[in-house]
Amino acid sequence: MNAVAVAVPSIPREDWTAHPRFRTQALLLGSHSNFRRVSRYLVDQAAREEFVGLHSLFDRWIAAMRSHEAYEERKLYPYLEYRWRVSLDEARTGHSELHARADEVAEAFRSLARPADSTESSTDNPVLRALQAHDRTLDDHLNVEEEAVVPLLLALDPEEFNRYYRSPLSMLIPAHRG
Ligand SMILES: [Fe+2]
Ligand SMILES: [Fe+2]
Repeated sequence: MNAVAVAVPSIPREDWTAHPRFRTQALLLGSHSNFRRVSRYLVDQAAREEFVGLHSLFDRWIAAMRSHEAYEERKLYPYLEYRWRVSLDEARTGHSELHARADEVAEAFRSLARPADSTESSTDNPVLRALQAHDRTLDDHLNVEEEAVVPLLLALDPEEFNRYYRSPLSMLIPAHRG
């Protein structure tokens, strides 16, 4: 990669699905749509006070999201930042915000297991409130990330995309060579 300035690709969201590389190169969107679906399910179940199995479902879902985030932070973001001379720090911040909201959800689930505090209203549903806050933060993050990342992926020519997809970061970015 030389030091010549690169033009950062900009492809409006409404044009993504018609892009010739959409099916092969628009990574993330399938996982994101699953994340949104699970989040809505958790909120709906909490709203109905159907809590059985919900905490363990939340924990399993969070584990899947953490491995998705790890891939993004260890490979996807560094490569795109290097390739297009952009910063994806706003997306990294979104991950930190999500972790804070997830901690609040876990605490709300733990509070369900404790005897009710006399100061708490019997209509209070801390799990629902925490899941709704997590859902909003998730939706914000996924939108920010998709807007930032998808155009950069679509703009890679297929040969470069395949090299990115198949190779470890150490083979793609000189600074990561040990
Ligand atoms: Fe993502
Ligand atoms: Fe992410």
